[in-house]
Amino acid sequence: MAALCRGVLRVAVHGCRYGPGMFREFSSGPSYQYILVERRGQSQNVGFIQLNRPKALNALCDGLMTEINQALDSFELDPQIGAIVITGGEKAFAAGADIKEMQNRTFQECYGGSFLSHWNRVSTVKKPVIAAVNGFALGGGCELAMMCDIIYAGEKAQFGQPEILLGTIPGAGGTQRLTRAVGKSMAMEMVLTGDRISAQEAKAAGLVSKVYPVDKVVDEAVTCGEKIAKNSKLIVSMAKEAVNGAFELSLSEGNRLEKRLFHSTFATDDRKEGMTAFVEKRKANFVDQ
Ligand code: CAA
Repeated sequence: MAALCRGVLRVAVHGCRYGPGMFREFSSGPSYQYILVERRGQSQNVGFIQLNRPKALNALCDGLMTEINQALDSFELDPQIGAIVITGGEKAFAAGADIKEMQNRTFQECYGGSFLSHWNRVSTVKKPVIAAVNGFALGGGCELAMMCDIIYAGEKAQFGQPEILLGTIPGAGGTQRLTRAVGKSMAMEMVLTGDRISAQEAKAAGLVSKVYPVDKVVDEAVTCGEKIAKNSKLIVSMAKEAVNGAFELSLSEGNRLEKRLFHSTFATDDRKEGMTAFVEKRKANFVDQ
């Protein structure tokens, strides 16, 4: 109840008590049961989503994933938000899809109902998403982190795709994104044995970009989000689209996409402002136009 109420407080549902000026931007937004949602950063321009199902190690039940999607949708529409951080708890970022929810599912239900198809939202958000991972990021939890654009890990984080031990295989991009991130041999080893890798191994393999002390990783992720949010949101989206093109396209197609987007920046006020500010030796004032 306390956790639920914290979630509700932070999204400031009608009827709940909250301090003056706190999270008023969410006053008509949805209420959440499984996640905490707020703004972070000095300019309150980083959207912050914390998975909050600690007793189940943030197992990604259907309701939790639906709420993440709702929170992402509202941050995506919010012109003030320039980046989003997703985090979990100290023991677990997320221990995977909810096995208890899946236990009795049939093939017909999975196939007919396109099971897990709504998990993809994280990877389609235009704004940059940073995962701050402490503890277990297993199965769907590892996949959720890999759907984000940047992964920061706490020193004790562990990444793994243990689905094989349950008699199944990763179903939310694990075999694809992990292989692209760490290469075939390590991905095969993780997927076929279910073995986990440490934060340090994940960093060495290129799965995460930075490793921080456990109590620093969330703040560092928010600081990274603030740094991104200071840039033009329009141009940031273009840069993200171009980098993502590298995962979908051939080199020549990817370079063509990049060039088109690069040319497109010349149609924006922010490109002109950025270069003019440089020449005039002042800080750029981006207007996201
Ligand atoms: N689903 C549902 N419940 C889970 C869960 C999961 N993925 N992971 C942990 N829990 C629950 C446990 O059942 C337990 O609940 P109870 O107290 O009600 O029994 C609680 O969380 C605490 O877990 P443990 O007692 O097991 O904690 P531990 O510290 O001993 O072990 C762990 C931690 C190694 C992460 C272990 O919980 C574990 O192996 N979890 C499952 C990991 C896994 O297999 N993930 C892949 C899921 S399949 C998937 O994700 C498919 C996909 O591609 C989308």
